[in-house]
Amino acid sequence: MNDLIDLRSDTVTRPTAAMRAAMAAAPVGDDQYGEDPSTNQLQSRCAELLGKEAAVWLPTGTMANQAALRTLTRPGDEVIASRESHAGWHEVGGAAANAGVQLQEIGQGGWFTAEQMRAAVKPRNFVMFPTTTLVQVENTHNRAGGVVVPQAEVLRICAVARELGMATFLDGARLWNASVASGLTVSELSAPFDMVAVAFSKGLGAPGGSLLAGSKDLIAAASRHRHRLGGAMRQNGVFTSAALYALDHHLARLPEDHANARALAEALASKAPVVLDLTTVQTNIVVFHLPDSVSVDAPGLSALSRARGVLINAFGPRTVRVATHLDVTREQCVRAASVLAELLSNCVR
Ligand SMILES: Cc1ncc(COP(=O)(O)O)c(C=O)c1O
Repeated sequence: MNDLIDLRSDTVTRPTAAMRAAMAAAPVGDDQYGEDPSTNQLQSRCAELLGKEAAVWLPTGTMANQAALRTLTRPGDEVIASRESHAGWHEVGGAAANAGVQLQEIGQGGWFTAEQMRAAVKPRNFVMFPTTTLVQVENTHNRAGGVVVPQAEVLRICAVARELGMATFLDGARLWNASVASGLTVSELSAPFDMVAVAFSKGLGAPGGSLLAGSKDLIAAASRHRHRLGGAMRQNGVFTSAALYALDHHLARLPEDHANARALAEALASKAPVVLDLTTVQTNIVVFHLPDSVSVDAPGLSALSRARGVLINAFGPRTVRVATHLDVTREQCVRAASVLAELLSNCVR
């Protein structure tokens, strides 16, 4: 696989030799007894980093989202989310199956305004309506191309939510990227929210793990939901030491991924017959669309480019996502753009 340029996701990275060494040397204990030193260290470090009282590690971002929904809602409630949210599209209906809630997706381009939210919230106590009890924001927004949600709007959204008695949740699987792109700290980005999720397995390059942060009471409740969902681990330091290593060594290199995504996107937009809005390329993700003028669809392009050593993600029938990360260089990104441009140019009807 090593000669392949794998741009399908920022989750495909493999732990570096130094990260593996940190994992092998990690002090461990039984995390269900609260005795895993590496996990305790990561949780308190991240709680502080995110400006919250407490934090709990979970195996995946999907489980973090499910546990947050379970903590902040009751079955039958409604949750406001952005259009094409991870919770609505990539979690196998977990919001409904595990938390018993329905999602109402609003807005466009990865976010929505406070006014759109206010209009979408159902009036309380009407005999037929579900109660809209939670708003969640995804920052950066995956399916919208890694866009950063404007923080001024986030502040307004959370203020309206408080006014309406709703809870607030930030799906910040790529909050590290949002921080780099916006120049705001992860603490500033998290401040308006009751709970926040972050991931270590994406741009940070750890082999697994996410974390929920919030007040002590919310995290105590989320920990019980984690256990119920089957996510309470034992010698978890093997994972959390990788996350600690990533915070020390990989966080500072994220701007490189952003610059590589931009270089790839600009090369594609200038050479290939694609629909690509360069203003959406703000972090490490590039989403583009195949116009009717090319005969190939996204799965077809994915197969053709795989044969040329470039792996991409068919996100929809005519939508493609590529993501840059720790395991691809600038040179590989530019080469990938050339391969895609050549393949697409050959498919112009
Ligand atoms: C925005 C967002 N939230 C949550 C997740 C879920 O993370 P995981 O793959 O660890 O379940 C992802 C994964 O890509 C994501 O992009």
